[in-house]
Amino acid sequence: MSTISGSRTLHRLIYASRNTIPAIDLNEEIGAIIRASIRRNREVAIGGLLLVHQGHFLQVLEGPAEAVLTTYGRICDDPRHTDTKVLGAGPAAKRAFAEWNMCARRITPADDAILDTLSMRTAFEPNRLTAGSALRLLQAVRGIQDRTQLSAMR
Ligand SMILES: Cc1cc2nc3c(=O)[nH]c(=O)nc-3n(C[C@H](O)[C@H](O)[C@H](O)COP(=O)(O)O)c2cc1C
Repeated sequence: MSTISGSRTLHRLIYASRNTIPAIDLNEEIGAIIRASIRRNREVAIGGLLLVHQGHFLQVLEGPAEAVLTTYGRICDDPRHTDTKVLGAGPAAKRAFAEWNMCARRITPADDAILDTLSMRTAFEPNRLTAGSALRLLQAVRGIQDRTQLSAMR
């Protein structure tokens, strides 16, 4: 019983990692990650957002607990990044990225306000963020993307 209800609980996991993809291959590899993510996340009702910036990834995954943990396990084994660090994981009251199957977003100079807010204009070190500030950053990025739809890869 508890396993069943536990697996149905909405779970949110936020992690940071360092990108190991050679710069020349970045666009192609990010595209491949997004395509695989859209396909696989849809099957297990996971939503989220992947942020790619200055050699780092910051990603939020939301969905049924079991699906989030299985997906995160697979992501951790991916050699396209390293030093994965969970910033926060646990039950969430409601989805903050409900309409997002998975998209990637690169922070552009136009988004400097976001980094200013987080005092990270000079160095983006998502592995040092608290779960709360990481979530606020990802929500701010989602907000900008909702408004502009520019540079978005969905
Ligand atoms: C930074 C990063 C984020 C990823 N995010 C997801 C994701 O949200 N969902 C997913 O299924 N795979 C994600 N992947 C890709 C997985 O590691 C894996 O390549 C993909 O799920 C395909 O697995 P398969 O070959 O076993 O089907 C991500 C990979 C990286 C490097």
